[in-house]
Amino acid sequence: MDLEATLEEARLRISVCADAKALKDLEREYVGKKGVVASLLAEIPKLPPDERKGHGQKANALKQSILEEIQARRTAFDSEKLDAARRADDFDPSLPPPLAERGSLHPLTQVTRELEDLFLSMGYEVLDGPEVELDHYNFEALNITKDHPARDSQDTFYCDEEGRLVLRTHTSPVQVRAMENRTPPFRVIAPGRVFRQETTDASHDHTFYQMEGLVVGKDISVAHLIGAMKALLRGIFDRDLDVRLRPGHFPFVEPGFELDARCPFCDEGCSVCKRTTWIELLPCGLVHPNVLRAGGIDPDEWSGFAFGLGLSRLVMLRHNIDDVRHLLEGDVRFLEQF
Ligand code: PHE
Repeated sequence: MDLEATLEEARLRISVCADAKALKDLEREYVGKKGVVASLLAEIPKLPPDERKGHGQKANALKQSILEEIQARRTAFDSEKLDAARRADDFDPSLPPPLAERGSLHPLTQVTRELEDLFLSMGYEVLDGPEVELDHYNFEALNITKDHPARDSQDTFYCDEEGRLVLRTHTSPVQVRAMENRTPPFRVIAPGRVFRQETTDASHDHTFYQMEGLVVGKDISVAHLIGAMKALLRGIFDRDLDVRLRPGHFPFVEPGFELDARCPFCDEGCSVCKRTTWIELLPCGLVHPNVLRAGGIDPDEWSGFAFGLGLSRLVMLRHNIDDVRHLLEGDVRFLEQF
């Protein structure tokens, strides 16, 4: 077979072929499994040994040239198609491109940032603390003795055999860390993630968010605490809400309270406040002298208040979310709403 002539013929046919489909057929005819080149290669074993190599090389060179022709023609078809689409009436090059999808801030991030701004404006510092915490800070220094029920392995993730390292069960350890390297007076908040070994349900998750607050100064009293909490509520709900204190027990505060706020969503009772017109909002109290001492501060000279705001719960209240587990599932259908 005259390879030169074969190549010439292939070139001609490729250059005049009508469309992509015809081109595909030509490709099969020449370089397909049963094509011209394949049959050339199949002849090799029948040739005298000294001609085999040359014949093989020529056949392969032919294949290469034909493939290049086909590729060039295919590119030409593609750009013709694009040109045609651009010439069509409905192509408007001045239209904007489709919008890139953008993410948004998680509702927990939003509320954290708002509260940080609010407290910064009131002279507080924003602190971070380790999520893997020493037992000492999570319990001991907070006046939670070895036999206190909060130590029960039911609620705590212990991280080592000796029980020295835990996943912090609240943000309160940051209180002691803050005291250790500050001299009073000072005010701090510490938002962050906390962990408890919970059986999860709509209102419990093993991982959730809190924001600790701590103020240490001269003659700090419950009046200061209430004032700060009212400012906090005003920041969150954009209006003044009445509050009430009920006794609450936490070993690191004395006296300790549960602070309730008037339901911001109703006047005479609704599903959010369970028809009581009060919502249980945050535990708080005056810092226990033992805790001040553990933080290296003299309780005869200084006093303070502390509070622990449940950020996850706050986000649920704000957006009327019925299941705390939505917050950490990462389901885009949920997150898109914020
Ligand atoms: N750390 C407590 C908890 O998680 C809340 C708290 C903080 C109570 C500060 C009083 C003062 O339950």
